[in-house]
Amino acid sequence: MTRTWNFYAGPATLPLPALERAKAEIPDWEGTGMSVLETSHRSKEYDAVHHRAMDLLTELLGLDDDHQVLFLQGGASLQFAMVPMNFVPKGGSADYVITGSWSSKALKEANIVARGRAAATGEPGGFTRIPGQGELELDPAAAYVHITSNNTIKGTQYHDFPDTGAVPLVADMSSDFLWRPFDANRFHLIYAGAQKNIGPSGVTVVILKKSWLEQANDGIPTMLAYKTHSDKESLYNTPPTFAIYMVRNVLEWLSDQGGLEAAERRNRAKGDLLYGVFAELADFYRCPVDPGSRSYMNVVFRLPSEELEKKFVAEALAAGMCGLKGHRSVGGCRASIYNAMPLEGVEVLADFMRRFAAANR
Ligand SMILES: Cc1ncc(COP(=O)(O)O)c(C=O)c1O
Repeated sequence: MTRTWNFYAGPATLPLPALERAKAEIPDWEGTGMSVLETSHRSKEYDAVHHRAMDLLTELLGLDDDHQVLFLQGGASLQFAMVPMNFVPKGGSADYVITGSWSSKALKEANIVARGRAAATGEPGGFTRIPGQGELELDPAAAYVHITSNNTIKGTQYHDFPDTGAVPLVADMSSDFLWRPFDANRFHLIYAGAQKNIGPSGVTVVILKKSWLEQANDGIPTMLAYKTHSDKESLYNTPPTFAIYMVRNVLEWLSDQGGLEAAERRNRAKGDLLYGVFAELADFYRCPVDPGSRSYMNVVFRLPSEELEKKFVAEALAAGMCGLKGHRSVGGCRASIYNAMPLEGVEVLADFMRRFAAANR
């Protein structure tokens, strides 16, 4: 079997052991004579998987008793609306730090269902760096401050989270959730579509500070109210059972690999390798991102011309590496190197980059 080195931004590469476990368990799962795809979400077998996935997240993140894991649907995009719907009170407003198109979309949704304002924007600088603490114009009366911890398209990432004082902090961590240890208990709400770092598409993980629900708005449609999912532990209606099962497999793998500390060591080695290639071959590859804001998950770069970029992507594909084209809105190239991308895959890419530069200078 030949596996492609998969640099897609999401859905993205998954750990082989997580896939092989699913393959082995599909015909007959835990002696049930059927697969998890066919099992009732009310069965005791599914219940064990559902809670194991929640427990693994609780352990990996060291969540306190006031923080709960939820598994929701609708992608991170639905969270853009659900967060303000639930937590911006009538007449109130929330602050958004704008670091790219995903945070702009989050603010747009906030202004449809409630009211949001930009507390800072990186737009004048082309979103090439994360605004520093001193650049934030925070409203002390805001319902929350929303950040996007990693900007999948622009290749920027927060290395230190902002201090928002007494105002709740909310983060879209879709593209860097679990890439390293961090204090998740500092956040009132975290959300992440699973399809980049923790599983397949179809499930969105939410980490919610339960006591915040006391301040949530009433009169929200049942499925859009966090309280519904919190009260029923994400089993109010049929959850995306197979996606959650795969998240469980990925989290077991992550734990077996040494948890978040070990994940950070691997991720830093991979990112440093690629950023090192840019430094070494600065006359050929250019990273547009400010060094202090560079992402360890989505590494974006440019070549001397768009023609060379096209050639680079095509030749990389022929050499067994897919997904290196930059997002259509910005062009260029992008290597997404999430937790499941082994160092070996990045070494193969780095070697290819050196050979390509030598042959096309
Ligand atoms: C940072 C970020 N937020 C939100 C989204 C939207 O996620 P979804 O497609 O799950 O709605 C994406 C998708 O790539 C993303 O990268």
